[in-house]
Amino acid sequence: MRRGAAPTTAPPRGRLRLAGSLHLPAHRASSITLAGAYPFLAGPPSTTGPLVGVDAMTGGPFCFDPWALYTAGELTNPNTVLAGVIGQGKSALAKSLAVRAIATGRRVYVPGDPKGEWSPVAEALGGAVVRLGPGLPTRLNPLDAHGMGATEAHAPRLRILGALAELTLRRELRPSEHEALEASLTVWSLARSQP
Ligand SMILES: Nc1ncnc2c1ncn2[C@@H]1O[C@H](COP(=O)(O)OP(=O)(O)O)[C@@H](O)[C@H]1O
Ligand SMILES: [Mg+2]
Repeated sequence: MRRGAAPTTAPPRGRLRLAGSLHLPAHRASSITLAGAYPFLAGPPSTTGPLVGVDAMTGGPFCFDPWALYTAGELTNPNTVLAGVIGQGKSALAKSLAVRAIATGRRVYVPGDPKGEWSPVAEALGGAVVRLGPGLPTRLNPLDAHGMGATEAHAPRLRILGALAELTLRRELRPSEHEALEASLTVWSLARSQP
């Protein structure tokens, strides 16, 4: 019913009670945006990528591979956000997507695991779990340039050294400090290349 329009007939007493009219501001959006709020506008479920589950609207399979959909031009961006209240299955869905994507040849990297829920997944799949933190034995070597030659590795090493120095100092480096880092890195690389 149009906002503000009066009902033509009064509803049977006791069956329906209206607590006054809703004073919501009008909202206008494209059908693509509104499909998120009103899924009945969405098109048929995707059949690209690993199976995620059964589409609640059609009963058909719902598959999802954001990179394949992006490549096909159906998505403008392969990034994915999972949002919802606690306990609704966001983590379970993320882990299902990861495990099923790995089965189709994708590689998965989880940059952090504050709740400890991804380590068992990685271990179950034969993946590597790197535990970093105070008191733990594992170290990351910022100068490790696996698979790169010294010349090729110079610029990335310098960038990471500069970033670490700026993080530690909590300020930007001065030009003379950049120079000092570059000179130190050059001497270090030369010393390493000596037999
Ligand atoms: N599809 C599902 N079927 C059955 N149980 C599920 C399903 N998805 C999630 N769960 C269970 O519901 C609980 C909450 O899920 P979880 O993924 O941790 O939620 P969230 O990350 O949204 O807080 C977990 O115990 C999980 O095993
Ligand atoms: Mg979660």
